[in-house]
Amino acid sequence: MPVNPGYVFKQLTSRDLKVLRVIEKFMKKYEYVPLEVIVSKSRMIDKDVSLTLSKLSGLKLVKRYRGDYTGYRMTMLGYDCLAIDDLVKRNIVYALGPKLGVGKEADLYLGLSPTNEKIVVKFHRVGRTSFRQVKRLRVYAEEAEVSWLIRSAISAEREFKALIECLKAKVRVPKPLGRSRHVVVMKHINGVLLLKYRKPLNPEHMLRLILDSVRRAYTIVGIVHGDLSEYNVMVKLDTEEPILIDWPQYVEKEHPSAPILLERDVKYITGFFKRKYSVKIPVEEALKYVRGEIEKI
Ligand SMILES: Nc1ncnc2c1ncn2[C@@H]1O[C@H](COP(=O)(O)OP(=O)(O)O)[C@@H](O)[C@H]1O
Ligand SMILES: [Mg+2]
Repeated sequence: MPVNPGYVFKQLTSRDLKVLRVIEKFMKKYEYVPLEVIVSKSRMIDKDVSLTLSKLSGLKLVKRYRGDYTGYRMTMLGYDCLAIDDLVKRNIVYALGPKLGVGKEADLYLGLSPTNEKIVVKFHRVGRTSFRQVKRLRVYAEEAEVSWLIRSAISAEREFKALIECLKAKVRVPKPLGRSRHVVVMKHINGVLLLKYRKPLNPEHMLRLILDSVRRAYTIVGIVHGDLSEYNVMVKLDTEEPILIDWPQYVEKEHPSAPILLERDVKYITGFFKRKYSVKIPVEEALKYVRGEIEKI
C-alpha cells in the first residue's frame, strides 16, 4: 500500500526540502540531476548534501542513479512532499488526514484548513495505470516518471482553473482553495455520490439543477465537463444539492470534440435519472437547454 505523503512530509527538515527543490528545478533539464549540480545550487557543504540525499533516498523521495555519473531524480512521493510544504506555507492546508479514496487518476485525502474547515486534497496521478504497465514491462520506466509528474501538474492546473471559472459562473462545484504542482485543494462536500444516494425527495429537480450547471459551464465559462455521470456528481446531504466534481478532462467549447462530449454528458446524466427515477426529460430538449437554445425545460 502506498504511504500517506503527509506522514512522510512530517519527517522532513527545511534542509531536506531545500535539496528536493533543487532537484525539482532541474528535473526538466536532466533525467537525473548530477550530484555536483545539486551541491552547487543548494549552497550546502558536500557532506550535508550527501547525508540529506541518503535520507531522501531512504524515504523514497528521490531515486539515485549510479553510472557514468551520480545523479538523482524526483519520485512522485518527493513531488507530493514539495506540494504539501508549499500548501502549508501558504496557509491553505493545516493538516492531512486519512485517505478519502483512490480514483483512476488521483489519490484524495481528507484534510483540515488553518481555520479548521474540512478540506479535500487531491493528488493528481495522470497515466498511473499506463505507467504501472510500463513499469511492469521494465521499458522506459525511468524516463516515464518525470513526464508523469509534469503531466499530473498540468492536469491539476486545468482542474483548478475550471473550478475557479465555474464558481464565478455559479456552476455547482466544490470551492477551490488552492493548487500547488499536481495537487488541488478544495472544500469538502458533506455528501455522497449520486450513484449511492438513496431516494431523492425530488429527482426531477435534482436533474434540472445538474442541467443548469452544465448550461452555465457551457454558455458562461465556455467548457464541457467531458466525464459527467453519476460517478462525478455528489449530492449534499443537507440540501440535496448536486455538485459536479472531477474537472481535469474538460474541453473548451471550440474544441472539435466538444459537441460530442456535451451530447454524451447530457445523455449519461438524463439516462441515469430516467433509468433510476423515471424522470422524463427528453435528451434533445435537455441538449437544447444546455446549449442555451431554449430558456426552459
Ligand atoms: N470536494 C469533495 N468532497 C468530498 N468528497 C470528494 C470531493 N471531491 C472528490 N470526492 C470523493 O473522491 C472521489 C474521487 O474524486 P474525483 O475528483 O472524482 O477523482 P477521480 O475520479 O479522478 O479519482 C469522488 O468519487 C468522491 O467520492
Ligand atoms: Mg471521478
